[in-house]
Amino acid sequence: MIGAGAVGTAYAYSMAQHALADEFIIINHTKKKAVGNALDLEDAVAAFETPVHMVPGDYADCAEADLVVITAGVPQKPGETRLQLVNKNLAVIKDITKNVVESGFQGIFLVAGNPVDILTNAVREFSGFPANRVLSSGTSLDSYRLRIALAKLFNVSSRSIEAYVMAEHGDSEFAAFSTATIGGKPLLEFAKDRGYTLDELKEIEDNVRHKAYSIIEGKGATYYGVASALVRITEAILRNTNAVMPIGAYMTGEYGQHGVYLGTPAIINANGIARIIEMPLNEDEQAAMANSAKTLQDIQDNARK
Ligand code: 2OP
Repeated sequence: MIGAGAVGTAYAYSMAQHALADEFIIINHTKKKAVGNALDLEDAVAAFETPVHMVPGDYADCAEADLVVITAGVPQKPGETRLQLVNKNLAVIKDITKNVVESGFQGIFLVAGNPVDILTNAVREFSGFPANRVLSSGTSLDSYRLRIALAKLFNVSSRSIEAYVMAEHGDSEFAAFSTATIGGKPLLEFAKDRGYTLDELKEIEDNVRHKAYSIIEGKGATYYGVASALVRITEAILRNTNAVMPIGAYMTGEYGQHGVYLGTPAIINANGIARIIEMPLNEDEQAAMANSAKTLQDIQDNARK
């Protein structure tokens, strides 16, 4: 893991609990902080059943790693959008990617810094790695947020709801309600039977879109949510599970889009993205996907200038 900030340390703690790896190496810009965190996490591991070796490291350690998770970067301040972070974090990401690749790393990159779609594409470009081996947390967290909100509304376990937030992990994302199901039944029918209108679902979508702002307003940062999403993705990669989950994937024609990372369900295994599952979106959702792709493409074009 590169970046021992709030997201990184929450992820590291959860990885220590879940014991998904034998060894977890923490790399940070200031090594002192990586050392301190590794020592603290080593204590935490002592209380858990399966030992995970939590150690501070350097870029050279990436050579033998199966997975490099990048959580480094400047986080949003209250009121700041994810896209406003682009210039600050592109420079950081470029440097990190170069160092990791120079180590001889042959594994998979999982990126979580914001704006995550733009930064992940930068990792893909700077590393020269094939797109299946460079993925991001994308709209995984947003999809969990959507499921939690729907679970509360319908009084159904969030685990029994298959619903995806798609496109940018940010303000132009959308909930693909037309494809969502509860117990195999289309969510839109389920909602109608219970007397809920599309407007009420749209309000939920809006709250999901703005949830990070509320969290940042309240406590200055968000980290447990994204850390948990990262653990799930890590599990699919390290245990080669072929799990279907929403992540950020590079578009090569899916949804009619090219050259940008967008949140979409995909099959995840030891090769990274085994396959993107192209959802049968309705016309409005397809337009929302295109709008989000254009927003990201414009930012990428500007960043190149
Ligand atoms: C989140 O959605 C800020 O991207 C972060 O929690």
